[in-house]
Amino acid sequence: MELKGASALITGGASGLGAGTVRTLCGLGVRCTVFDRNETGAKQLAEEIGPVADYIAGDVTNPDDCQRAVDQAAGNGPLRIAVNCAGTGWVGRVINRDNSPHDLGAFKFIQELNVVGTFNVMTRAASTMALTDPLADGERGVIVNTASVAAFDGQIGQLAYSASKGAVVGMTLPAARDLASVGIRVVTIAPGLFDTPLLGMLPEEQRDALGQSVLFPKKLGQPSQYGEMVAHIAHNSYLNGEVIRLDGGIRMPPK
Ligand SMILES: NC(=O)c1ccc[n+]([C@@H]2O[C@H](COP(=O)([O-])OP(=O)(O)OC[C@H]3O[C@@H](n4cnc5c(N)ncnc54)[C@H](O)[C@@H]3O)[C@@H](O)[C@H]2O)c1
Repeated sequence: MELKGASALITGGASGLGAGTVRTLCGLGVRCTVFDRNETGAKQLAEEIGPVADYIAGDVTNPDDCQRAVDQAAGNGPLRIAVNCAGTGWVGRVINRDNSPHDLGAFKFIQELNVVGTFNVMTRAASTMALTDPLADGERGVIVNTASVAAFDGQIGQLAYSASKGAVVGMTLPAARDLASVGIRVVTIAPGLFDTPLLGMLPEEQRDALGQSVLFPKKLGQPSQYGEMVAHIAHNSYLNGEVIRLDGGIRMPPK
């Protein structure tokens, strides 16, 4: 797909993998709308990048916020790319150390953010993309979702997180099938360990140790490498309905 001149909406675009995606796509001539609940961070990034980027503050769990974000992105050019990076993790076992059950509120919160948030943006972005003029080969756009290797290698304490990322993986093929008739592709990336503020909370020693656990290269992935993957998915029209692990070959152990 031709990227130059297209409009893209990136959720969670103010930080980490989303910000890496915004930088990469803007560098390729894509007009990016940063959609994040962190308004200060979103504004800062958009201002740093300049006229090819703008931002909108909002919450992906709120369908109205998602619609506003989609509308804004569509006002910048034909909406061809929607990337779901807003999300977070949670640590909690099926039962706690005192044998009490996993907190239900925390479980629901993670599903709401990682699954419903992805659903909200995917559905609204697809509705708008479906109204754009198709490109020469009939393609209208692509939706890129973010799962995690935790969808496959869920570790101790990742019950809620793995459930949410498994759902993102599970939505990929049916969404691609649903949208094939309007020329929209759906691809999911399952990242391994990336150097973002999400992992930045850990002490440096622990982050180094995590890097050493990667098969090769023995280091954390960079947000720019995630952005490059998104750009390739957008560009390569033969990628569809697939989940791609981007993880340096890591297979997570039980803990
Ligand atoms: N960093 C990793 O190693 C890693 C690995 C696998 C999967 N992931 C997944 O990648 C995604 C991005 O992670 P990251 O490391 O870039 O995290 P991050 O914390 O750096 O960025 C997440 C961004 O999402 C935004 N956000 C959170 N909740 C939101 C909401 N309700 N509405 C709008 N914006 C919201 C935050 O403000 C933040 O800017 C997450 O879904 C995460 O689970 C990350």
